[in-house]
Amino acid sequence: MNAIEGRDISHSYAVDGSWALSLCGVNITVAPGEMVAILGHNGSGKTTLAKHFNALLELQKGELTVAGLEASDPSAVWKLRRKCGMVFQNPDNQFVSSVVAEDIAFGLENYGTPPEDIPRRVEEALRLVGMAGTEKRSTYMLSGGQKQRIALAGVLALDADIIIFDEATVMLDPAGRQEVMETIRRLHAQEHKTIILISHYMEDVLDADRVYIMAGGEILAAGPPREMLTDLSLLAAAGLAPPFAVQVYYDLLAAGVELARCPLTEEELVEEICRLF
Ligand SMILES: Nc1ncnc2c1ncn2[C@@H]1O[C@H](COP(=O)(O)OP(=O)(O)OP(=O)(O)O)[C@@H](O)[C@H]1O
Ligand SMILES: [Mg+2]
Repeated sequence: MNAIEGRDISHSYAVDGSWALSLCGVNITVAPGEMVAILGHNGSGKTTLAKHFNALLELQKGELTVAGLEASDPSAVWKLRRKCGMVFQNPDNQFVSSVVAEDIAFGLENYGTPPEDIPRRVEEALRLVGMAGTEKRSTYMLSGGQKQRIALAGVLALDADIIIFDEATVMLDPAGRQEVMETIRRLHAQEHKTIILISHYMEDVLDADRVYIMAGGEILAAGPPREMLTDLSLLAAAGLAPPFAVQVYYDLLAAGVELARCPLTEEELVEEICRLF
């Protein structure tokens, strides 16, 4: 059974008395434990699609199962939100309490967790995001990266198997980004969580098992990062700039210099250039 199985999903928003189509016939599958990235230009429909996965948006057309639950079944909504959690862009918009433990406990209370189990669940979730022992800290005093990890702990405390990161690193400084990305990679590799990573940063998606490229509410292509990110015409069709190393590869090729392979990272680019000499 797939973690996510979506067929022919379409969605329109009501805008000024008419309907604006934002997703058109999207097909997507995510295997359990897979790390899938969704790349696309502003307004391509990434968030609209992701919000279907945890029932923040109602399914208008198509079929969708998430963690074995039918998204179209109103009685499955709460379970579905618990199984598929989401971490959003703005670290400051995700807290309901100014104390770390209370913030994580809030979600657990909402889902009717027995009070005696809550401290243990909070402790375990904080450990998973590398913030053990911060129960009493004030959420105001945390760095952006720490705030995102606490938001993630809130999702993990509810036992989410699937976690969506919707540009969760975009508002962070480089250290915060790295901290959050390392946590995501660890959850994927060690805890076998299914990860959906929505990002504008090419380097964030290099570790994904597969990348979906979106444009204009549609999926243009899906495949391994190396295949997707070195395809200049695909990236151009999606309005995305290629990674720096890929651009240099094609610039060199145009100038008559052919590297043995198309590099994805700057380290690979340096390696390939050194091999020329
Ligand atoms: N609540 C809304 N009401 C009306 N239109 C919306 C709403 N949310 C999104 N849209 C429109 O739907 C389309 C897809 O938006 P969406 O936010 O899903 O894209 P995105 O790929 O997540 O973009 P970004 O990279 O900016 O986050 C856009 O044209 C957007 O303007
Ligand atoms: Mg978005």
